[in-house]
Amino acid sequence: MTDKRLRVFSGVQPTGNIHIGNYLGALRQFVALQEENDCIYCIVDLHAITMPKDPAELHAHILDVAALYMAVGLDPKKSILFVQSEVPGHAELSWILTCCSYTGELSRMTQFKDKSRGNESAPTGLFVYPALMAADILLYDADVVPVGQDQRQHIELTRDLAIRVNNRFGEDTFVVPEGRFLKEGARVMALDDPAAKMSKSAENEMSRISLLDDDAKIKKAIMRATTDSDGEIRYDIQKKPGVSNLLAIYGAFAGISAEDVAARYQGQGYGTLKKDLVEITVDALRPIKERFAEIRPSNELARILKDGAARADAIAGPVLARVKERFGLGV
Ligand code: TYM
Repeated sequence: MTDKRLRVFSGVQPTGNIHIGNYLGALRQFVALQEENDCIYCIVDLHAITMPKDPAELHAHILDVAALYMAVGLDPKKSILFVQSEVPGHAELSWILTCCSYTGELSRMTQFKDKSRGNESAPTGLFVYPALMAADILLYDADVVPVGQDQRQHIELTRDLAIRVNNRFGEDTFVVPEGRFLKEGARVMALDDPAAKMSKSAENEMSRISLLDDDAKIKKAIMRATTDSDGEIRYDIQKKPGVSNLLAIYGAFAGISAEDVAARYQGQGYGTLKKDLVEITVDALRPIKERFAEIRPSNELARILKDGAARADAIAGPVLARVKERFGLGV
């Protein structure tokens, strides 16, 4: 990272089951970046309704993510924390960017293809989802977007849209953002199936470790994790995806590379590696759960989010005005 303070933007969907993939790929980057940069972290509730949601559950999940943001170490005095639908500019810019996008590029998005697979017709919101995500980022002139690998294609599309608009309306219409991906933790795989990414919505609870899981569940999920039968501890994503996933999770929590973890455990059994990974994971999640239990019931949460929305809106307003003026919109 350079000396200059950068504008950082990222978001998490309020869908429940926030897991160690979200933490290791994204949330821990959010925390690390807040000390030296101007960070804006959003709870993207408009994205969450691209699939049908129960209103009471959605509302609870919004507050859960807000409390988790703070439990992992985000400080509302340092970072802006807010809910997407509280700043109308997101929806407005999303429409403008939708009008700059093509059905061809949107239909190539793997997230859309995965979620709509097998259905003749898919929800339109799911299709235009990446234009809303581009709007989130471009609305704040963000330089850097810390995310997991699964968002790489959406970040590329955001860059393409920004460059396309800049070519037509002037180079300084949008800041062209960069994605920021970590080496360890950017793609945490499902514990029961290392060919699939760890996901909030997978049916099998044992496929993931949620940040609020109790110790017994953490132990069960890790001890049952799919490995292989050759018994050798080695980091090789192609040939040994299950073991490599455990090594990467361990490395991400311990702050070392997956290869170094493999070297440390060379010649030992999978059982030892798994037992130690249980301990590391339990220790890492304990303080998060404790802080969550304190923060979540507090009435302060809503005030913090309202205050964050006002600060976000003050940044978004001039950007949106600039874009509308370039497009010739309004009076
Ligand atoms: P979401 O809510 O699915 O995930 C939140 C963050 O967690 C990362 N992530 C993972 N990282 C490593 N391993 C995994 N298995 C894993 N699963 C998820 C995601 O990459 C993400 O960084 N579209 C976004 C939310 C969004 C957004 C934005 C992000 C909306 N607007 C603007 C950045 C900027 C999403 O659905 O993330």
